[in-house]
Amino acid sequence: MVSPVGISMLGSGNVGGGVVAALNAASNRYERSVGRPLQLRQVLVRDLARQRDGLTASQLTTSFDDLISDEGTQIVVELMGGEEPAYEYIARALASGRDVVTANKEVMAKHGAKLLALAAEHEVRLLYEASVGGGIPIISPLSRDLLANEVSALTAIINGTTNFMLTAMADGGVDYKDVLAEAQRLGYAEPDPTADVEGFDASYKLAILCGLAFGLELFPEEIERQGISLLASQDFIYAAELGYTIKLLARARLDDGHLIASVCPTLIYHDEPLAKVDGVLNAVEIEGNLVGHVLFEGPGAGPTPTASAVLADVLALARDIVADRRPLAVTPLIPAQVLPSASHKSRFYIRLTVPDQAGVLAQIAGALGERGVSIASVLQFEADDLDDAAELVLTTYLAERGAVNDALKQIEEAQFVQRIGNLMPIAGLGGAR
Ligand code: NAP
Ligand code: HSE
Repeated sequence: MVSPVGISMLGSGNVGGGVVAALNAASNRYERSVGRPLQLRQVLVRDLARQRDGLTASQLTTSFDDLISDEGTQIVVELMGGEEPAYEYIARALASGRDVVTANKEVMAKHGAKLLALAAEHEVRLLYEASVGGGIPIISPLSRDLLANEVSALTAIINGTTNFMLTAMADGGVDYKDVLAEAQRLGYAEPDPTADVEGFDASYKLAILCGLAFGLELFPEEIERQGISLLASQDFIYAAELGYTIKLLARARLDDGHLIASVCPTLIYHDEPLAKVDGVLNAVEIEGNLVGHVLFEGPGAGPTPTASAVLADVLALARDIVADRRPLAVTPLIPAQVLPSASHKSRFYIRLTVPDQAGVLAQIAGALGERGVSIASVLQFEADDLDDAAELVLTTYLAERGAVNDALKQIEEAQFVQRIGNLMPIAGLGGAR
């Protein structure tokens, strides 16, 4: 009898359940593709009593030590999430000579370089296709198919929960709180939505993409990050009036040896391909010197699409195990020289609530002008919730974020405004892409 390739899993929740279902449903096809059957040996969970389709009680364990001492396990698939104990378990699995597959963006963003070096030291592999963009193939294309390119920029929508929320707000004048409640009801947003709505999840994914696209080590805390929780339904109405929609864009580009990296709600011209990526979909646009622009788009989350990416890695490893192929060398990352966010240049959208009085606009224009920030357009609307007040929506020409921030601080301190509603970059058409 042909000996199987043994797989053990850490975690069997949303994604793990999708992996187990696909492994059971397509076992014959996977065996033909690999040349040997795949055998799911042990699955680490917290709660042994929970009902889990496709798994027997004897496959479940709450002990990582038991799982890692199973000699038949050749591939460990980490689908627990969170930084710890996932990081420790991945490191121990690699050090014990097992190949590892993970969907964990937090661990890969914070510890990816260390773990890849550990894998190389032990002559095993660590694959992580599912950590960015769910079912969209993006890690593998960047590692292989686009390798001949010098990548100059990447622009991405890499958080499905916030893209679902922003699409609903753009479509229907719905408020942030209502759309968050709907995202939670549909199971897209967690009960604690901070990681998604404050942009942490997208910044982990952007850090991973920067390692692959630019060969640079970028830590998530080095990325300028702004969440979507301050957006109001008016922002979408005003953006539409100006010809834009609002997306949580993760962007990175090289400028004179410096890496400019940000995750911010951003105005994007309504005709741009990324402006039309709606709902829970994700998309990643890469600009390479040989290939030009390429866009990868598809389902960025969910058990089945994510299982597709996890199992692609498992099948690749299993085929290498059967063929007794050695891992390829890993190129070490170079520490990124990150440009501070105050020096990021862009066009900007500014929403202010101001007293409806003569001279206010001149004061605001003065504070911006003193810092070299030139106004491109001004729209005025009635403020719905305040008497004798108006909403001013300004767009600027290319300016440094630090200069705009300083001007807004002065405007606020001098009490020219009742409220600073929002400040967002504008992508494209002269804005930094
Ligand atoms: P999940 O539904 O919360 O499942 C987590 C699983 O890990 C559960 O089976 C849980 O056990 C187990 N687990 C967690 N901590 C554990 C511990 N300390 N000891 C033992 N078992 C533990 O998570 P998920 O949505 O499947 O996500 C898994 C990973 O995939 C995360 O890294 C996530 O970021 C990534 N990912 C998810 C998606 C998505 O659409 N959900 C998409 C792309 C990537 P119990 O079942 O006993 O609680
Ligand atoms: N919370 C993530 C999202 C799941 O909404 O995109 C996939 O990583």
